[in-house]
Amino acid sequence: MLLKLYTRLLPYIKPYRGRMLLATLLNVVSSFLNVMVFMAIIPIVQTVLTPIPHGTPASSPVTTRLPSNKLIDQQSIVDFFKSLFISTSREESLLKICAFIFIVFALKNIFSYFSGYVMTVVEGGLVKDLRDKVFAKLSTLSIDYFYDRKAGQLLSRVTNDVNTVNSTLVSSIMTLVGQPIQLGLYLFVLFSINAKLSVISFAIAIGSMWLINFFGKSIKRMSHRVQKNQGDILAIAQEMIGGVKVVKSFGMEHYEVSRFKEETRVHYQSAKRLARIRQFIGPVNETLAVAGFVGILYFGGHEVFAGSMDGGELFLFLLALITLMQPVRTLSELNGRLHEGAAAAENLFAILEANPTVANGEVIAPAAISFPIRFEHVEFMYSTATDSAIKGIDLEIRPNEVLALVGPSGGGKTTLVDLLVRFYDPSMGRIVLEGRDLKDYDLNSLRKLFGIVTQDTVLFHDTIANNIAYGNRNASKAMIEEAANAANAHSFITELPQGYETIAGDRGVRMSGGQRQRIAIARALLKNPPILIFDEATSALDTENEMLVQEAIERLLKLRTAVVIAHRLSTIQQADRIAVVNNGRIVELGSHDELMSYKDGLYQRLFSIQTRAASEGLVSTL
Ligand SMILES: Nc1ncnc2c1ncn2[C@@H]1O[C@H](COP(=O)(O)OP(=O)(O)O)[C@@H](O)[C@H]1O
Ligand SMILES: [Mg+2]
Repeated sequence: MLLKLYTRLLPYIKPYRGRMLLATLLNVVSSFLNVMVFMAIIPIVQTVLTPIPHGTPASSPVTTRLPSNKLIDQQSIVDFFKSLFISTSREESLLKICAFIFIVFALKNIFSYFSGYVMTVVEGGLVKDLRDKVFAKLSTLSIDYFYDRKAGQLLSRVTNDVNTVNSTLVSSIMTLVGQPIQLGLYLFVLFSINAKLSVISFAIAIGSMWLINFFGKSIKRMSHRVQKNQGDILAIAQEMIGGVKVVKSFGMEHYEVSRFKEETRVHYQSAKRLARIRQFIGPVNETLAVAGFVGILYFGGHEVFAGSMDGGELFLFLLALITLMQPVRTLSELNGRLHEGAAAAENLFAILEANPTVANGEVIAPAAISFPIRFEHVEFMYSTATDSAIKGIDLEIRPNEVLALVGPSGGGKTTLVDLLVRFYDPSMGRIVLEGRDLKDYDLNSLRKLFGIVTQDTVLFHDTIANNIAYGNRNASKAMIEEAANAANAHSFITELPQGYETIAGDRGVRMSGGQRQRIAIARALLKNPPILIFDEATSALDTENEMLVQEAIERLLKLRTAVVIAHRLSTIQQADRIAVVNNGRIVELGSHDELMSYKDGLYQRLFSIQTRAASEGLVSTL
């Protein structure tokens, strides 16, 4: 399973394989040097530090005694080190050995430094790559992906999960390669001292590995839960920060805090449970190790009694065994972390391998299209809904006309224009542009055909000029001002402290709904698309602002094709055609006068309700 995960990660790791190999090599060399000191200790103990008969001068040559009933012939290794160290005097040998140990350890640390450094750089690059790729992939997913998920959870993917994957899966690659090598080297030392004892230790190690793996599984499950909680926490924080006005005006601060506390409590509980198991692994491992150690001491003692090894060798064996426990422990702890990383990686792959529901087509839409655009028996159902939002619509959008969509809220007007710009694709039927199904078109070129102004305008954290030029970064200052002028926005912009260079957006200058709306219109205008879409662009505005925006819209609509969704019918009387959308169907279609002539028609009814309300001064509540 883990292997599969790594093969999926491989494409992201690939650009770094050279540096990873280097880091691993350096790590191996450092491990090797570490073990080398061990190998040297055998001759040291056996030769230099063996007790000497009373009265022998310190400068007398060293004698050696070596047992020969060993699985691996240590004689040659020992001979090698002996030739390095053994001098005519014990004093000199001791000095040489001290120097050797110091130099080897110093080298080991130099290698381990470079290995760690290279690996850290690799990890940093990988985090960046992964984050960039997840974000880029997110941007290609269709609207429904974002609507069906909590923003906080998606944020958590880009931040937490990327970090977790790195701190677990990626950073353990080196451990996975380096530690087994170290393990192998130590095992070699062990076997070369006493094979029988080594086999016993081996059995104990395998037993403990099995137990650790058992815990690893529950860690994975819990870690999944903890990560989901983290997303939920972010989601609540984000909702409260984003909707602070609503929260405060409804006096719901306590409610939000308690909601948040509930999530953090759940997170705390599962983190505690996770910690309990994760922390359990260390002590369990160590207890097992000590049990094994005691057992080995016992068996080893008997080996010494039997004369097949000496006390010094037993001491070395145990020393090597304790040192060996370090890589074993690292590897077994790694198992838990790998499972944790696997949970995060699966979250990332869910994004990286998701397919946009609205697939890109190949035909590049021409900048100047020939009309009409035709809806042919279009049906659409949201994936989360049980009833179709659009139920068999046939409609044409003709050149240079203003087509108004009106009707009760929830009727399907927004859905209809969302289908037009391919935020969604029809479940049945098709939309035809220049004789082709809209699905054949390249999304980018298709969306260039439309300029959309909706009720809620998003201004980015940037200058007003750049906000207007969004999507058209090489627009000249004159073009920006011209668009602003046409959108009735120029005069208020020039009155701002820094004019067009004023920063707008979340942390920028505060603007009224009408001002934001006019900037959005200027933005749509600068794009100069063949088709303008206004989806209740004036609904949120007060009367004065509405008039300013309405005036701007009307000026723009001359000689342009536009689809205007309006809540207030007074604003669309001049439209060429008005389609009344109700319950997913077009129930009436015609000019204002035609629709008014239908006895008991829906349009006529809505219109009379609104005019009555207006005469009673209630228009802004409608
Ligand atoms: N993202 C969505 N997921 C599921 N159902 C939706 C979604 N958006 C709108 N709907 C439903 O589709 C229907 C049409 O909605 P909409 O097109 O927004 O109506 P209108 O713009 O005319 O007010 C409504 O019943 C609405 O509840
Ligand atoms: Mg709508």
